[in-house]
Amino acid sequence: MKVAIVQNPEEGSKLAAEIFIAQVQQNPKTVLGLATGSTPVKLYNLLAEANRAGVVSFKECQSFNLDEYIGLAPTHEQSYHYFMKTQLFDHIDIDQTKTHVPDGLARDIAASCKAYEEAIAAAGGIDIQLLGIGSDGHIAFNEPGCSLACRTHSQVLTQQTISDNARLFFNGRIEEVPTQAVTMGIGSIMDAKRVVLLAFGKGKQEAIAGLVEGAVTTMCPCSALQYHNDCIVICDEEAAGKLRNVAYYKYIFSQTGVSNI
Ligand code: GLP
Repeated sequence: MKVAIVQNPEEGSKLAAEIFIAQVQQNPKTVLGLATGSTPVKLYNLLAEANRAGVVSFKECQSFNLDEYIGLAPTHEQSYHYFMKTQLFDHIDIDQTKTHVPDGLARDIAASCKAYEEAIAAAGGIDIQLLGIGSDGHIAFNEPGCSLACRTHSQVLTQQTISDNARLFFNGRIEEVPTQAVTMGIGSIMDAKRVVLLAFGKGKQEAIAGLVEGAVTTMCPCSALQYHNDCIVICDEEAAGKLRNVAYYKYIFSQTGVSNI
């Protein structure tokens, strides 16, 4: 696991943008794994900017998103479909028929999860997976206690996640937040060839400590990434606040620089 500790979210987003742009420049047919939440918004702005400036094109890319709330239509403003469309897809040249987000309205959720896994496999697997992180150490919507081997599945959300995410719903009303989601599993995420995880702010301190230096445990699902052989964690000073080996990570980063990270 490589850990890049940056001054602030702006610097972290720039670093992530450099990594994604280099990846797509190198392989224009990149299969992108994408994430939602407030954390990747700045990165998406930078990708759109680079696309407009002609630095990178997503025309031949495909994308697969991590998760979606069960019960929300793609047009619902808090759905992850809507988020992706408004925050990224409408601002880049990607072919929107090649963007995939799990179906939160499927009648047969199990069948639709299976089909999602098959679609990822048919695309050749995810080349680069972007992740945020929940304050309880969840990635996508894999909550503490879920299997570290699971594939795309439905997940009951924890009270912590529901209350963390309520701020994004109408007037922050907790009753509006769906209680279940469809999510790629930890097993699906581990299959991505490369993983880039972003974490900003004090609220992510415990999760980052668990991810980078904690024991691998279902109680902190992100800790499974310790077994991924190409995982980059980009966090700001605040999110890194509970790491023990900060000086060591900074030393490695200063030696290898951005391109080798
Ligand atoms: C949700 C998403 C996660 C995301 C997390 C953190 O639970 N399912 O994929 O990482 O929120 O969101 P934020 O970036 O807003 O802190």
